[in-house]
Amino acid sequence: MAHWQILRMFELFLVGIGTGNPEHITIQARRAIEEADSILIPYKGSEKSELVDVRLKICKEIVKGKKTKIIQFDLPSRDLSYSYQEGVEKWHDNVARVWSSTIRKHCSEDTKVAFLIWGDPSLYDSSLRIAERLKPKPKIQVFAGITSIQALTAAHKIPINEVGKSFIVTTGRNLLECGFPHGVKTVAVMLDGKCSFQSLREPKLYIYWGAYLGMENEIILEGWVEDVSKKIMEIRADARNQNGWIMDSYILQKR
Ligand SMILES: C[S@@+](CC[C@H](N)C(=O)[O-])C[C@H]1O[C@@H](n2cnc3c(N)ncnc32)[C@H](O)[C@@H]1O
Repeated sequence: MAHWQILRMFELFLVGIGTGNPEHITIQARRAIEEADSILIPYKGSEKSELVDVRLKICKEIVKGKKTKIIQFDLPSRDLSYSYQEGVEKWHDNVARVWSSTIRKHCSEDTKVAFLIWGDPSLYDSSLRIAERLKPKPKIQVFAGITSIQALTAAHKIPINEVGKSFIVTTGRNLLECGFPHGVKTVAVMLDGKCSFQSLREPKLYIYWGAYLGMENEIILEGWVEDVSKKIMEIRADARNQNGWIMDSYILQKR
């Protein structure tokens, strides 16, 4: 028997909650949270408790007066001794194991279990891949959420694509390793702890940057990369020191 076998049927709701603003939650997502019997809140050792608090606040407010179980559990971290891809695969296996044991321990049969997913479950989020590993496979329902890219474009009041054109969404790691993607003029970048925009050699690059998007302490800045990159790095470092954590995303446009 695989370690992640659950041995009982349950329904799994993967609920996108947006990027930290309780008003990002759709009516459909709200209903799913209300309907769930249990809500599982992962706690990553490295994850900032403020992000856990946001999830807790959202679900407590929605399930007020109901008997919903709110279960916090520790997530394992990724083993950095493996290559990136292999490490991620193994990490997904481990997380599936932890999901299974938490559900086995805390949730009764025929139950509806919800996970609150930061942003949207489709974008740089592993929950669907982890859910696929569960056996028997639960009935899965996905509830769309506002992504950090949408929060960024809304904050800057910009469309993301040029008329009729494509754009690419990528990570800081890819930008650093492969440079500005070929064939497009617009790239949205997430998961970048290293301000990889500063490594690009393209002239005439415009950046729309945002941190803590949707939250009370949202910061945004825009300008030519060569003019604003130092300022972004300074603001980013200060905000990180002040809050103990930072999440930021940006859009680069070749003009
Ligand atoms: C693991 S990914 C999760 C993305 C999420 N599923 C979404 O739909 O936006 C985390 C990355 O999303 C971006 N992000 C998430 N929340 C953010 C926020 N409030 N402000 C800026 N960027 C954010 C950052 O680039 C961060 O490194």
